[in-house]
Amino acid sequence: MALKPRKVVIVGAGHVGSHAGYALASQGLAEQIVYIDVDKEKAIAQALDIFDATVYLPHRVLVTAGNYMDAADADLLIIAAGPLPDISKGQTRMDTLGQTVEILKDVIEGIKSSGFHGIIVSISNPADVVAHYVQNQLGYLKEKIISTSTTLDSARLRRAIAQEIGMDQKSVYAYALGEHGESQMVAWSTVTIAGKPILELIKEKPDKYGKLNLCAIAEEGKAGGWHILGGKGSTEFGIGAAIAEVTRAIFADEKRVLPVSVLLDGEYGQHDVYASVPSVLGINGVEEIIELNMTREEKEKFNQSCKTMRENYELALNL
Ligand code: 2OP
Repeated sequence: MALKPRKVVIVGAGHVGSHAGYALASQGLAEQIVYIDVDKEKAIAQALDIFDATVYLPHRVLVTAGNYMDAADADLLIIAAGPLPDISKGQTRMDTLGQTVEILKDVIEGIKSSGFHGIIVSISNPADVVAHYVQNQLGYLKEKIISTSTTLDSARLRRAIAQEIGMDQKSVYAYALGEHGESQMVAWSTVTIAGKPILELIKEKPDKYGKLNLCAIAEEGKAGGWHILGGKGSTEFGIGAAIAEVTRAIFADEKRVLPVSVLLDGEYGQHDVYASVPSVLGINGVEEIIELNMTREEKEKFNQSCKTMRENYELALNL
């Protein structure tokens, strides 16, 4: 069998797409990266900029601008096209659905015409509804299309918890679940520090953990994107690192558990909705969904998040 360079196509050469590409290049996760954008000059410019950087990076990567025909033999396709929410107008990610779907129609045609048959990682907002819409329109295998979704919010949540308890965030195991957006929730009963439930620590060590305001921490995690958007107009490094982590898990067949958005088919009692839940990622995409045991109250919040996303998905189908 002939060896083949790992090839990634990135649709969308804006802030998110460019940082995604740079993260893949700098972490040595692909040998070929192709940018596709309606703004061809921008795609060429981003490709050149990253390609220049590779002279000083440890891994050789060919970075170019191209078109959907480049996707025919690609292993992974990242969808990063669409607007950022306009916070000056108080827009949420869900409010960008109409604009994103308009843009996606051409993207979907392009993917169909290319014969692409690899794995799709969708980032465009509203992340979960968009992944579902693309999966439906392409008639794609659900295991092979995911969204990074709350991989990013979970990083923000772990940072918020870690800051409060004065510990490294890699020792905090916590997931933001459901929507990469306003209805996301935290199942605190499943959050652990080095394997020990945080709710037990709160009881056992009230001096250190008893003062934690869990609602405020969850809100801080959720608001992370707004703080960044408000301060610099875009979020990019966090999502770049998240996409690199998801890509590594898939290409290296890591069987790594990450909270990506997947099509639920009975898991968590939900059907026909994309939602972020811990999932095992490997060479085949989503290889298993881990069902966390939540309290009744947590389950209700998760169900509510799924309801919001399902309703917006129905709307998307009629746009
Ligand atoms: C983020 O959370 C805005 O969805 C984007 O960084």
